[in-house]
Amino acid sequence: MADTILTTSVAEAVAILASGGLVALPTETVYGLGARADDSRALARIFEAKGRPADNPLIAHVASIEQVGDVVLSIAPYARDLMERFWPGPLTLVLPVREDMPSQLTAGLQTVGVRMPDHALTRAVIKALGVPVAAPSANRSGRPSPTTWEAVREDLEGRIDAILQAGPTTVGLESTVVDCTGDVPVILRPGAITLADLQSVHPEARQRRPDEAAHRSPGLRHRHYRPDAEVRWVGPFDTDTSGTGEAAPDPTEAKHAASASYIGLHDPPDPLRYVRIEIAPSLAAYARSLFHFFRLSEADGVRSIHCERVPCEGLGQALTDRIDRASGSE
Ligand code: TXA
Ligand code: MG
Repeated sequence: MADTILTTSVAEAVAILASGGLVALPTETVYGLGARADDSRALARIFEAKGRPADNPLIAHVASIEQVGDVVLSIAPYARDLMERFWPGPLTLVLPVREDMPSQLTAGLQTVGVRMPDHALTRAVIKALGVPVAAPSANRSGRPSPTTWEAVREDLEGRIDAILQAGPTTVGLESTVVDCTGDVPVILRPGAITLADLQSVHPEARQRRPDEAAHRSPGLRHRHYRPDAEVRWVGPFDTDTSGTGEAAPDPTEAKHAASASYIGLHDPPDPLRYVRIEIAPSLAAYARSLFHFFRLSEADGVRSIHCERVPCEGLGQALTDRIDRASGSE
């Protein structure tokens, strides 16, 4: 494929998508790799460009609630309530798919994930295209999701047609995925829209049970982010319990001491050992920085990325999920 075009033009992005091309698009969560959702050849190219397993379905992005009908058969009343409350925003709803949609969109499932991203440029692209845009995160499969256009270029240069350039993403973790095909909403992947947020609209919303995971959200079967650096939990190091929560020293650690990085909410007890440290002023800032920090740490050549443990609730649940998966502990 020819060089990847860098552009800030909505019209150019629309023209490329319209003719079956692949364009990376900014959203509030992470950059997505877009193709028109009704074009099976374009969808097949997404899987090829990313090296994505064929059994992992894509999310269809819409610019309006009306457009959901282009991909979805029916919408449960509570799902419509969630759309009205949280869209545009980091919430993907899994709904019954229309029979005329390409099988690549759903990886052969009877359902499809749909979301309206909170990014004006990308909504303008989808609106002008007039067709929903399928977009997984715009990383090579197994790499951290890209939160900047430069990270997209790092992974996909020469493999995709264009990147619509915009600023860094504001949320930094992928959307909350919620199964809306049953009686109540069920969270399949935690994100910035939390269980408490969903319960404020539908009190019976719940988490998936561990045994429900694999068949309902195929993406959860695949290991996310296999870095050269190991990712591991440390802490928590909050001021009241300084140091007491630290993981037991690892006998192999001494030789890696000079090549570790640290991200967390609090100062680590042993700052001198780290070549890179990021202290996030809030959970939201921790979430926003995490994937970028992984990439920076890799570029530094660190062997080990230490992430401070956070309470597994609210946004902390999404952070815990991503760090668990990166560390291989889930
Ligand atoms: O924030 C996001 O969701 C970003 C931006 C670009 O919108 N997209 C994203 O896409 O993270 P991706 O492909 O990296 O993750 C999609 C997740 C996967 O875990 C996939 O298995 C799940 O959504 N998913 C998609 N369709 C599904 C379906 N029909 N049933 C269950 N899970 C589904
Ligand atoms: Mg992804």
